[in-house]
Amino acid sequence: MPPRVGGRCHQDTRQGMKPPGHAWGDDATRTHVRGRCHQDTHYDESHPDAQDDTSAQGHVTTRCRAPPAPPLPPARPSPCPQGAGTMAAVTWALGPLGGVAIVTLLLALLLGWLWDTAGTVTRFRATCHQLRRFPRPPWRNWLLGHTGLGKSTEEGLQHVDELVAQYRHGCLWWISPWMPILRLFHPDTLRPILLASAFIAPKDQLFYGFLKPWLGDGLLLSHGQKWARHRRLLTPAFHWDILKSYVGAFNHSTHVMHAKWRAAAQAAGGQVGLEVLEQLSLLTLDTLQKCIFSHESHCQEQPSEYIKAIVELSTLVVKRHHRLLHHSTWLYRLSADGRRFARACATVHSFTAAVVQRRRQALDRLGRQAWLENHQGRSMDFIDLLLLAKDEDGNTLSDEDIAAEADTFMFEGHDTTASGLAWLLYNLACHPHYQERCRQEVRELLKGRDAEEIKWEDLSHLPFTTMCIKESLRLHPPVTAVSRRCTKDIALRDGRVIPKGIICLMSIYGTHHNPDIWPEPQVFNPLRFSPENSKGRSPLAFIPFSAGPRNCIGQSFAMAELKVVAALTVARFAIKLDAGRPPRRKPELILRTEDGLWLLLEPLPEVA
Ligand code: HEM
Repeated sequence: MPPRVGGRCHQDTRQGMKPPGHAWGDDATRTHVRGRCHQDTHYDESHPDAQDDTSAQGHVTTRCRAPPAPPLPPARPSPCPQGAGTMAAVTWALGPLGGVAIVTLLLALLLGWLWDTAGTVTRFRATCHQLRRFPRPPWRNWLLGHTGLGKSTEEGLQHVDELVAQYRHGCLWWISPWMPILRLFHPDTLRPILLASAFIAPKDQLFYGFLKPWLGDGLLLSHGQKWARHRRLLTPAFHWDILKSYVGAFNHSTHVMHAKWRAAAQAAGGQVGLEVLEQLSLLTLDTLQKCIFSHESHCQEQPSEYIKAIVELSTLVVKRHHRLLHHSTWLYRLSADGRRFARACATVHSFTAAVVQRRRQALDRLGRQAWLENHQGRSMDFIDLLLLAKDEDGNTLSDEDIAAEADTFMFEGHDTTASGLAWLLYNLACHPHYQERCRQEVRELLKGRDAEEIKWEDLSHLPFTTMCIKESLRLHPPVTAVSRRCTKDIALRDGRVIPKGIICLMSIYGTHHNPDIWPEPQVFNPLRFSPENSKGRSPLAFIPFSAGPRNCIGQSFAMAELKVVAALTVARFAIKLDAGRPPRRKPELILRTEDGLWLLLEPLPEVA
């Protein structure tokens, strides 16, 4: 919207008549256009490009070329000289008292603004004073700070390694001259923030804001009382008794993926080179759709509109982060990407809403008891559990709430688990002796069984495979950082204070690569997680699922899926590195690679 000064004449002038050498909105232009119509007209005609411009803006030309208007009635003599501002005209119109009132009002506004500014500057100086106790790595200069020095690339991650090696607890990072953030890498500095109540250190919107139109007020993005209530209502849906029933889906989706791999390997004459991240994303989407909606999309074998939309949304969110212009909501809405985002959101939302509505109607029609009995043969999925969820006051979740949570699980659960699995297979490919040890463990477990199937009870009998999974999540954490904004001063054990208002970037990657906690942090060594080697280590040293009140609600689900897929994969395939395609890490919403993660897969004889 153009500013509403000078009425229509002003708007027309701004559209059609840019004077040479004037930027729109500069003071000279603004002074000129505040004048009356005849001034604009004169200005138009004197402009060398007036003909072209005005023909493009037809109504301007028409008005300017119209026959002279009949003489205006004699104007009230103006005491303000030609060119004096609107202010003087108003003062004249209101009389001397009105003028005094307006000047007083303006002075009051100015004083208010100065007062606020002084307050902000004083607070900012106090914040800077407290922040001076945190080390600041070399920056570009005081104006640019560290802008552009942190990159989402392989080199960017190597830079984090250097920062952690030098500043073991954390450091101060200036995104702009007025925006400092603290990058924290050590359990001691993370503890007071991660373990603080979700009200004292809420999530910062900077990193997740673009997901809002897709995920709405689901658990990941909601805050305050709404988040607390939903977290209480949703926690039982992730209880082990419920998760047990999903192990069948994990097995089934893995069989489907392996059948594809076998066929591809056979076609390739023994072993096949595959980009595993995409394959594993389809697998995790497949299992989630089964566990959340009881829906068989067969998305691993044939295209699914819904799955395509989720993959597209995840890609577009990352792309938007990289395009500064697209950070503005309305510019984004007008862009091609913004329209694709809106279409994909509509596809996802209509799928989820339809499932929720169908179930709600069935529940209302049959009543709670009959509806529960009707489930015979089909285990409860997340939608069922959320429809039945009630808090201590008997309040339930609305259909919109349930849909937002289901969309959130689909988003949070698929890429993260796929990234964890892909890097695990990569690390096992890098270390064939550990891979072989896992294989022996799984084969021992499956020996003499009719089917190659991992059961819920088996999950606690895979100790070495579990250590490999944990070590892989340490070395390649799927989520590399989480952020929090402190709503009050938070004291650290060493006496330093994280001032109110500061954003803390809690680096999961940095903490997992901190040599104070993990000697030789770049080395893949599953034995770090043996019971004896884990003794005395801070629980916050290993935080792939974050920690504290806003930790990952789906971590047991994810660990169960990781174990099933890993166990069946090492039992059935020899996993080797593709020497021609070494991965270059790329931390985005999750840790991926620049050109996919390529591995060679060779089928092994069946075990069971
Ligand atoms: C290896 C797999 C996974 C990893 C590494 C992972 C990691 C994380 C992390 C680091 C957070 C904290 C985010 C933050 O503080 O900003 C988080 C939150 C969350 N995760 Fe996961 N996640 C995984 C799998 C899953 C799965 C399978 C689900 C659901 C089925 C899930 C659902 C959620 C939800 C709903 C939240 C938000 C919790 C809240 O704020 O209360 N995640 N996850």
